[in-house]
Amino acid sequence: MNILVAGGAGFIGSHTMVELLNAGYNVICVDNLYNSSNEAINRVEKITSKKVKFYLCDLIYIDKLNQIFLQEKIDAVIMFAGYKAVGESSTKPLEYYYNNLLSIMNMIEVMRKHNCKNLIFSSSATVYGQNVSVPITEDSYVGDLKNITNPYGRTKLMIEQILYDVANSDKDFKMIILRYFNPVGAHDSGLIGEDPKGIPNNLMPYIAQVAVGKRSELHIFGNDYNTKDGTGVRDYIHVVDLSIGHILSLNIFFNSDKKYTADGINNNIYIYNLGTGIGYSVLDVKNAYEKVANIKIPYVFDDRRLGDIDELYCSPHKAKNELNWVAKRDLFDMCETSYNFQKNNPKGYDDMNNHNIVFAERK
Ligand code: UFG
Repeated sequence: MNILVAGGAGFIGSHTMVELLNAGYNVICVDNLYNSSNEAINRVEKITSKKVKFYLCDLIYIDKLNQIFLQEKIDAVIMFAGYKAVGESSTKPLEYYYNNLLSIMNMIEVMRKHNCKNLIFSSSATVYGQNVSVPITEDSYVGDLKNITNPYGRTKLMIEQILYDVANSDKDFKMIILRYFNPVGAHDSGLIGEDPKGIPNNLMPYIAQVAVGKRSELHIFGNDYNTKDGTGVRDYIHVVDLSIGHILSLNIFFNSDKKYTADGINNNIYIYNLGTGIGYSVLDVKNAYEKVANIKIPYVFDDRRLGDIDELYCSPHKAKNELNWVAKRDLFDMCETSYNFQKNNPKGYDDMNNHNIVFAERK
C-alpha cells in the first residue's frame, strides 16, 4: 500500500512516517519545507532503515500535485500540511485561509481525478470552540465559527465542513477526521522531534529551550484560571501515540470487517479525538520536566494569553473502542523524549545533509 503523507517533514508527519514504514507501508512524502526540514526525512530513513520517496511540492500548485499522482499509485492520503501557528494566524488571516483551504481543495480534486478516495485529515481540538464542557466527546462539536478564537482554528472547522460536503456528494470517498489535543514529546531515538522556527508558541518546546539554556525563563500565561492551581489545563498526547492512531485509522480503509461509527449522508466520514483523556496544568508539565531533566526551570507568571481557556481534555473512548487505540506514554515519557531530542539537537535540525529531492515538474 502506498500512502501519500502531505506535510511529512513536519513534527507529526515525520513521526507518522516512521510508524507507517514500520508497519510495512510505502511512504511518499510531499512537503514544501516551509516550516519543516528535509533533514527530518533523512532521519526517518535512519530510524527505520527504509526509504521515503520525497517530492518537494507546495500544495497550492495543483499541477505539480497532479504530476505526483501521475507518477505514483496512491492508496490513501494523510493530510498534515498546513499553517498552524495560532498567534500568527490572527496577524496573517488571509495567508491562513488561502494556504490551508486551497491546499485541501487541491488535494481532494487531484485525489478524485486519480480515483484515490481515502483521506485522513489532521484536525484539532480547537474546533470544539471556547464554550465546551470537559471531557470533550466527538459529539460535543458545535460547529460555530464565532466560537473559535483565531483564523487557524477556523480553517480547521471550515475544512471539516468541506470534507463533510465532499463525502456527502460522493459515497465512495472515505474521510477520517482526527482531532488532536496537544501533541508533544519526540521519538525515543532522539533523532526526530519538534523543531519550531523562532520563538516557540507552545508550552513544551518552550520549556525544552529553557531546559537547555536557549531561553532564560518560562512565561506562564495566567495563574487565575478556574483550575486546580490556576494555570491552564490541557490534554497532552505523546506524538508517537498520536502517530500510531493514524496507522490504526488506516484499517477503516483497508480492513473494513470491523464496525466503525460513521457520519454524514453516506456514512463515509469518521471522527475521532486523539488525546489521553487526562488534563495537566502548566505547572504539572513544568514540574514533570524538572523531574526528568533533573534541573530547575525558572519561570514567571504573565498575563493570560488572548483566546486561552481554563481547561481542555477529551474523552478518548471512541478511539479506544473502535480503533483499538490507547495512549501508552505518560507525561514523564513526553517530557523525557522532548528533553532528549532538545539535548541532542540544541539548534534543531542540521540542514547540511540534503535529501535526494525529486522535483515534481509543472506540465
Ligand atoms: N502556555 C504558557 N506559556 C507558554 C506557552 C503556553 O503558559 O509559553 C500555556 C497556555 O496558556 C496553555 C498551555 O500552556 O494554558 C498550553 O498552550 P499551548 O500553546 O502549548 O497549546 P494550546 O492548548 O494553546 O494549543 C494547542 C495547539 C493548537 C491546537 C490546540 C488544541 O497549539 O494548534 O492545542 O487544544 F488547536
